[in-house]
Amino acid sequence: MDFGMEHFKAQVNKYRDFIDEQLQETLESVNTYPPTIHEAMRYSVFNGGKRLRPMLVFEGAKLAGGNPDEVIPAACAMELIHCYSLVHDDLPAMDDDDLRRGKPTCHIIYGEAIAILAGDALLTRAFELLALSSNLQQIDPARVVQVISEVSKAVGSCGMIGGQVVDLQSEGRQIDCSTLETLHSLKTGQLFRVSLRSGAIIAGMDNKTLAILDNYCYHFGLAFQISDDILDIKGNPQVIGKPVGSDFKNAKNTYPSILGLEKSYQLAQNAVEACLESLQVFGKEADFLRCLARYTLQREK
Ligand code: IPE
Ligand code: IPE
Ligand code: MG
Ligand code: MG
Ligand code: MG
Repeated sequence: MDFGMEHFKAQVNKYRDFIDEQLQETLESVNTYPPTIHEAMRYSVFNGGKRLRPMLVFEGAKLAGGNPDEVIPAACAMELIHCYSLVHDDLPAMDDDDLRRGKPTCHIIYGEAIAILAGDALLTRAFELLALSSNLQQIDPARVVQVISEVSKAVGSCGMIGGQVVDLQSEGRQIDCSTLETLHSLKTGQLFRVSLRSGAIIAGMDNKTLAILDNYCYHFGLAFQISDDILDIKGNPQVIGKPVGSDFKNAKNTYPSILGLEKSYQLAQNAVEACLESLQVFGKEADFLRCLARYTLQREK
């Protein structure tokens, strides 16, 4: 079958529904004591996220010729980490935003203290899930340990958190494009990268092929964050489900703030071209990733 944008979108919807089902099972603890924290966790996960990071986990496994069932816990774990990062990103001490995925942010509903704790608990639950992978799916424990180690690094102080720190510390001061690229690659690219890698590692991909995926994700993260920054200016808040103008309000450094919209769009296009180039060694099996890269230029949310 020809892998056009329509087929891609159908595949995305199928993935999203499946991931939502799996996340429901994972967070069924709604009645668990104490109820508030579990409600806040569920509130922050079941609110219409695109589920791109779990999709990357599945695609990584697919490219390595693995069984998608084996990576379900890892796929859910990446989404929980992402949701935690959003809950904290929206806090008053950070971006201070009151809308996320079309609903009031976690701290607006549950208060700041519970939102901080819900984020902490989502992150912790993610590592529990990763650790359980080998029990649930009989995966080689050495691969699971590698994934846990890589995820810890990717979302820690030298990865996603490091990016968030540079993002916050750069507010109100002009930084250069190369610092901004580093910032984007840390705060956004690292989680994409480790998502694709996790699926591939569990499915047994060799290091040389993993490096190709890394290259794809570097450029994908960049294109994705540039388009996020553009949507913060030009997006429809009803569609993106978060406030427009948040970056301006916080005097953030973004590509549009430094280079203007047109040049930013061009850079996102270049990054998408680099994504496609990095996938040249693959055949049709990488068509989903190709479409995903192109989609960053068209997305409305
Ligand atoms: C938003 O990510 C935060 C960024 C890293 C730009 P997404 O655009 O993937 O958000 P959801 O999960 O679909 O809400
Ligand atoms: C968020 O970047 C990155 C992380 C949550 C790690 P943004 O602050 O641009 O994300 P949005 O626009 O609030 O989704
Ligand atoms: Mg932010
Ligand atoms: Mg934000
Ligand atoms: Mg943003």
